[in-house]
Amino acid sequence: MNIAEIRSRYLKFFEDRGHFIIPSASLVPQNDPTTLFTGSGMQPLITYLLGKDHPAGNRLTDSQKCFRAEDIEEVGDNRHIVFFEMLGNWSLGDYFKKEQLPWFFEFLVDEIGLDPSKLYVTAFIGDEKNSVPRDTESAEIWQKLFSGKGIDAKIVELGSQEDGSRKGMQEGRIFYYDAKKNWWSRAGVPENMPVGEPGGPDSEVFYDFGLPHDAKFGAECHPNCDCGRFLEIGNSVFMQYIKKEDGSFGLLPKQNVDFGGGLERIAAAAQQNADIFAIDAFSDIIGLLIHFSKKEYTDSRYQRSFRIIADHMRAATFIIGDGVKPSNTERGYVLRRLIRRASQHAMKLSVGDKDKEDSMLVRAAIITIEKYKEAYAELDGEAAYKEITETIWNEEKQFAQTLDKGMKEFEKIAATGHIEASEAYVLFTTHGFPFEMTLELAKERGIDVDEVGFKAEMKKHQEISRAGVEQKFKGGLADTSEKTTRLHTAHHLLLKALQIVLGKHVKQRGSNITQERLRIDFSHGEKMTKEQLTEVEKIVNEKIQEGLPVIRTEMARDEAEKLGAEHEFGAKYPERVSVYSVGPLDNAFSIEFCGGPHVSNTSEIGKGGIFKIQKEEAVAAGIRRIKAVLT
Ligand code: ALA
Repeated sequence: MNIAEIRSRYLKFFEDRGHFIIPSASLVPQNDPTTLFTGSGMQPLITYLLGKDHPAGNRLTDSQKCFRAEDIEEVGDNRHIVFFEMLGNWSLGDYFKKEQLPWFFEFLVDEIGLDPSKLYVTAFIGDEKNSVPRDTESAEIWQKLFSGKGIDAKIVELGSQEDGSRKGMQEGRIFYYDAKKNWWSRAGVPENMPVGEPGGPDSEVFYDFGLPHDAKFGAECHPNCDCGRFLEIGNSVFMQYIKKEDGSFGLLPKQNVDFGGGLERIAAAAQQNADIFAIDAFSDIIGLLIHFSKKEYTDSRYQRSFRIIADHMRAATFIIGDGVKPSNTERGYVLRRLIRRASQHAMKLSVGDKDKEDSMLVRAAIITIEKYKEAYAELDGEAAYKEITETIWNEEKQFAQTLDKGMKEFEKIAATGHIEASEAYVLFTTHGFPFEMTLELAKERGIDVDEVGFKAEMKKHQEISRAGVEQKFKGGLADTSEKTTRLHTAHHLLLKALQIVLGKHVKQRGSNITQERLRIDFSHGEKMTKEQLTEVEKIVNEKIQEGLPVIRTEMARDEAEKLGAEHEFGAKYPERVSVYSVGPLDNAFSIEFCGGPHVSNTSEIGKGGIFKIQKEEAVAAGIRRIKAVLT
């Protein structure tokens, strides 16, 4: 069964059960400042989950395009991909657990033909602190469903992922896990949810590929072990709670179901092949690469490259299809990175290209267009074809020029017969020369590279720049000019001042800074009073006048968390992070996870003028927006 068939069967299955098929929303979120790309099926539907009536009714189904940039570095093994289709069905205050779980089970077993004995499921263990009970109802429903297929399903209590690695399967079929694994909201666990955010316990289905356990991931295997034996193929979220101002949970006006299942993963399960790249969405591209490179997919020297090209070019095709262009900021930067990484791996397979007709990246995009244009109209037609293929080819050419220049630098260094870690680092950061290339070229020439030092340097650099980039995505800095930088530091002062005046529930939900003004979106339930606005302005201006130093520190993520550094809503951070404090770390006015840039002393903000709030308004339920300037 190919992905087109599974997709249409899923939509038909839920249409037959009273659901209206809605089209996928764009990968570029429309009214949601919390993420750079649409990363789940529920995101475009958030207002309806919060209680608004949907014009198409209260049973909906779709296949939503999703992109998760945080997985880019992981691509290359048999299961990580950055772009995927999330099959979704929703009950907006209509059906609940006793319909949802049997339907999904029926779909998997009777419609797709999965062997029920390969399915394992999970449910929420309960959370006393937040008064959310254990989900015994789901566990009981699952028990009956398995029993109907002649399977005696034992319920086992595991707790955390670590508990799971200690306790193991215990011949169980249904497992209770804690909120880290069986609670879903856009912000993750209950504690991270800002006021006004909906969420709830969930129940996941895992497919057992029967691979031997890899002890690197823990002593014992269990469904939420990351070793690759089990793959999550669907998640039914019982979205019934909302975070209240006082930090406790209330019930949403309607009890909703938010189901999401990875189409590519379901297809892999249907083929009983743990390698997700064996499904048609990828295998057609990989087939082409095998043909032209004359290399084997199973050759461990090249397998990662085959996978990265197939994954990244499929994703790039969809991103361009939604109107994004390569650039050095935000979504454009992610797209640039996808194309350049794919290009680099094409060179590794010796299929780097001289012209557009030969380009493997362009051909991979064409395969993707052909495969998806029927289901996704934005990829169909001559204009889309031209836009996608030309954008990729132009970026590939530009990257080749960057490499040419980097190559000259490399030759200069290589002539000395040795490459220092610091030199390889400069090649990468200053000349954009990928470190894999340095390593390979050096090896070819039999030149020593201080590989250990080099990798340590790269790792540090990558983690910090990743944190910075993520911050920038979230921070939405238009540029790094002096004016923008002043407003960026003022932005940190403002967030803290809002927390002082309005309360700790204030969290940043989005921002955008240009040379003219700053904009911050933050969680707060009501319109701010005149007095509050004046008070906030006063605090910010005072801190500007105090001339506090602005200090950047690199530290372990845990350490930054302990210091109470502000997180961005929904962001994931690496082990080491860059943190900016206004005032010394041990006596700071504000501390934030941030990639900069900032002024070095708050008095420099004053050179731009007095801090003034121009506008305060609502952008979404529970989210306010402020625009402010220096005048
Ligand atoms: N919203 C749920 C998820 O993304 C279904 O996993």
